[in-house]
Amino acid sequence: MKVQLAGLELANPVIAASGTFGYGIEFEEIVSLERIGAFVTKGISLKPITGHPAPRIVQTAAGMLNAIGLQNIGVEEFVARKLPALARYPRCKVIVNVFGYSVSEYLGVIERLNHAEGIAAYELNVSCPNVHVGGMTFGADPGSLEYLVRQARSITQRPLIVKLSPNVTSIAHMAKVAAGAGADALSLVNTFLAMAIDVETRRPRLSNITGGLSGPAIKPIALRMVYEAAQAVSIPILGMGGIVTAEDAVEFLLAGAAAVEVGTASYADPRATERLAHSLESWCRGHHVERVSSLTRALEIPGNR
Ligand SMILES: Cc1cc2nc3c(=O)[nH]c(=O)nc-3n(C[C@H](O)[C@H](O)[C@H](O)COP(=O)(O)O)c2cc1C
Repeated sequence: MKVQLAGLELANPVIAASGTFGYGIEFEEIVSLERIGAFVTKGISLKPITGHPAPRIVQTAAGMLNAIGLQNIGVEEFVARKLPALARYPRCKVIVNVFGYSVSEYLGVIERLNHAEGIAAYELNVSCPNVHVGGMTFGADPGSLEYLVRQARSITQRPLIVKLSPNVTSIAHMAKVAAGAGADALSLVNTFLAMAIDVETRRPRLSNITGGLSGPAIKPIALRMVYEAAQAVSIPILGMGGIVTAEDAVEFLLAGAAAVEVGTASYADPRATERLAHSLESWCRGHHVERVSSLTRALEIPGNR
């Protein structure tokens, strides 16, 4: 079940997605942290962020909408309180999701984290749809994305995963820009900009009016985007969007992903990531797949179109 990506060796290709797994340590009594391939922290910023007021989560058909607004404890507290606790799980791979309102804030977070131990890689969140500055502003504009990734690349030796926004016209183009600027891997997709309205009150269901849609509702679109990105670049891709079952994960691997991230499924079942790691292994056994990595980019197109 081992996979290699961006210089990392993961015990299996199942990764808990950012924003749905806290800072990892909160899950220590729920999930065996060393049995999943890795986890990604909630987006970490230079200063603590309180986020948007409630309501900031709404259930939708086959998914959920969120507008958390990047609530997090800030890099100093993360390094002082959360990272040391994770040292109890030395085989657990910690990927830190990095967020900033400006290029200098992104770089400030990385510089602070560079001095901390116990971090396997960075995932640069250039795709949050729920803040008015930063986030998606970088992910939706090729020039800004290029500049940010190049700057981030120049200040760290650690693997740099760039998390792309699906809220763009051409994911292939953005994938090429990020790869060209020095990303070691790409992760996609973040949530889709969306909204819900309460017809009785005639008000938006989220205090932020709009939010990001995730869960099974987005899976076919996410899969198509992973496929298009994989056609455009040769660096590894971490695929996500609505993954729940082993079959969902296999679809993403075949479309081009080297590993998968699981987000919303952890809301329905907090053990979803560990269960998926097990069920994916059983699926491989049942289908005589000796190495899960052989599924990556193994999509067969009839007539080889
Ligand atoms: C409540 C919530 C908070 C999230 N916070 C972050 C975040 O801080 N940084 C980030 O890059 N993605 C964040 N995401 C996006 C997820 O990591 C993931 O890209 C998205 O939900 C699609 O995967 P899923 O359908 O399996 O949830 C968040 C998603 C949810 C549902």
